Amino acid sequence: MSDPNTQPPNQWVPLPPDDLPIAPLDAPAAPGSSSGATQNASSNETFFEFRDINKGFDDRMVLHDVSFVVKRGQTCVIMGRSGVGKSVTLKILMGFLKPDSGQVFIDGEDVTNYSEAQFEKVRLKVTMVFQSGALFDSLTVRENIAFPLEQSNMNPDDIDAYVEKYARTLEVDHVLDKLPGELSTGLRRAVAIARALAQNPEAILYDEPTTMVDPIMADHTGNLILRLKESFRRTSIVVTHDTHLAKKLADTIVFLQEGKATVFDSWGAFENSKDPFLHNFRMQDELIPALDVTL
Ligand SMILES: Nc1ncnc2c1ncn2[C@@H]1O[C@H](COP(=O)(O)OP(=O)(O)OP(=O)(O)O)[C@@H](O)[C@H]1O
Ligand SMILES: [Mg+2]
Repeated sequence: MSDPNTQPPNQWVPLPPDDLPIAPLDAPAAPGSSSGATQNASSNETFFEFRDINKGFDDRMVLHDVSFVVKRGQTCVIMGRSGVGKSVTLKILMGFLKPDSGQVFIDGEDVTNYSEAQFEKVRLKVTMVFQSGALFDSLTVRENIAFPLEQSNMNPDDIDAYVEKYARTLEVDHVLDKLPGELSTGLRRAVAIARALAQNPEAILYDEPTTMVDPIMADHTGNLILRLKESFRRTSIVVTHDTHLAKKLADTIVFLQEGKATVFDSWGAFENSKDPFLHNFRMQDELIPALDVTL
């Protein structure tokens, strides 16, 4: 477990400020974590697993025997109509909600019955970018991005260097001294992604990263996430009903409808599915951007 390099005690491992602010291409897992000594090949390949998950609220069943896996380093896109349980799925993965039955595995560990204290450790390696951004409103953008870095023992000069790097990567370096309330939704989201990266997580979950902004900003945010996917190569789950974004990002697709999940191993398989429900879903999404253009 002990690393020959001098690392902070937790799993946070700073990257050299002169390098890319994101991990090298051939390192799908964060250094210093998951030595994997006791894991077999298949569990090591799987980062997230939902196994027969059921979840309801009051009398209403939301997820019904939902199972899927996300392989290490891959991007899974979760799609489906409003209210089908996409955000609930992410909240279960983050430990904010408990399933009624079934099991959740993260990085080879069964986290289903983890306590809040145990989940806090999981959240060091799995971070979520919320729909709202969930930034600290009273802190500047610079302070927001610096926040995860300050949890380590890094010296202030290095923190500044990293903040600038992450801000440049997400193209928010021109707003570093502003407060979140002064920014547009799209910029706040980019700042939230920069802050998530500053945590140097092994996996990032995005909830609807391109909603509530105009099509140009949505496309811009989608391209930033795509760039991160290509250079960062961390495991990601992107919840969206934006098929254009999904097509760009997806290695696998989980389509939720009426409590059930259908898993597709490629965009082609999703696009060619003859399921009438899916056909309607795709048609609806094709119409919306067309309307935007003509208005
Ligand atoms: N904490 C909660 N208490 C009660 N019901 C909840 C709770 N969280 C979610 N739900 C319900 O579960 C269902 C699924 O919610 P969820 O937020 O996952 O939908 P979604 O697929 O993310 O939708 P959207 O695309 O609109 O974000 C909804 O009917 C919602 O009202
Ligand atoms: Mg949602």
